[in-house]
Amino acid sequence: MAVDRFGRNLHYLRISLTDHCNLRCVYCMPEDMVFQPNAELMQDDEILVLAGMFAQLGFNKIRLTGGEPTLRKNVVELVREIAHLPGIDSVSMTTNGILLPRLAENLAKAGLKRVNISLDTLDEKKFKTMTRWGSIKDVWEGIQAAEQAGLTPVKINAVVVRNYNEDDVLDLARLTLTHPWQIRFIEMMPLGGATEFQQQLVVSAAEISRRVEREFGELIPLHNGKLDGEARVYRIPGALGEVGFIASVTKPFCALCTRARLTADGYLRLCLLREGEVDLLTPLRQGASPAELRQLILDGLWQKPWGHGLAHNEVAVNRVMNQIGG
Ligand code: 5AD
Ligand code: SF4
Repeated sequence: MAVDRFGRNLHYLRISLTDHCNLRCVYCMPEDMVFQPNAELMQDDEILVLAGMFAQLGFNKIRLTGGEPTLRKNVVELVREIAHLPGIDSVSMTTNGILLPRLAENLAKAGLKRVNISLDTLDEKKFKTMTRWGSIKDVWEGIQAAEQAGLTPVKINAVVVRNYNEDDVLDLARLTLTHPWQIRFIEMMPLGGATEFQQQLVVSAAEISRRVEREFGELIPLHNGKLDGEARVYRIPGALGEVGFIASVTKPFCALCTRARLTADGYLRLCLLREGEVDLLTPLRQGASPAELRQLILDGLWQKPWGHGLAHNEVAVNRVMNQIGG
């Protein structure tokens, strides 16, 4: 079992399959984002070797992220192989949903359990502004495809950004009245690379939940009011689905963090919002032995930082979100 120096048991690995994306969400990357050449990214066999090592170290839960993970050529095959690694209990994915009509069924058959789909607004014009060219219809069809394929419960992620979509949380929350989905409102995390998107644009989870309660009445806490993963989850009275609030900035859940990340170019990243990383791909390519790699991973995990420094205006600037995997 892998632990860090604060005694946190690390068992949840998020693997970024690619930094590429078919959208350019304003809070995630600049419009003229330059992606890494394919050769610098982990190849399929390299992903499997590294994922297998994490599984041996006690990691049992894997989430595939991006960029946009469905853009990865062999994504279905990768899911199948990762899901079959000994010790892996669940493989899920965070996606913008656009390619799910084509892929959902095969991904489910390959062993994918669930998807989180990003959708920040139901207003077509605002969606275009936030994603720079996306269309809600495509995402909506992706959500339907995920449901039909049994990738459920469908979770929908909405990053809330001041002056962009803070008024849209009500329409999104309203979806839970008639759909068994979990709509999760995420505080925007200011990352150095997307420089316009800084602290002043963060809308707190407390503010979002006040807006929702004003419209729909007092929210009913689920899971005894405890965190479910990173979200606090509620039900609007009478609703089929749930609403969740992820307060990464105003109420960090670092003390309970069980995660590590593997970037698409094969770095172990210990915290989304801290720069510390350990290069695993270079040693792998240079022929490091399994024992050496295992030690590199264990040493890296041990050094996982306690938490992020957003409250002190410490912002990680070495990568933007699509390179880390959200
Ligand atoms: N803050 C919070 N969430 C973000 N995501 C991307 N950039 C940010 C950010 N700056 C989320 C997306 C998606 C996942 C890939 O990461 O909404 O759900
Ligand atoms: Fe792509 Fe997701 Fe980043 Fe949007 S948030 S640009 S969909 S990776």
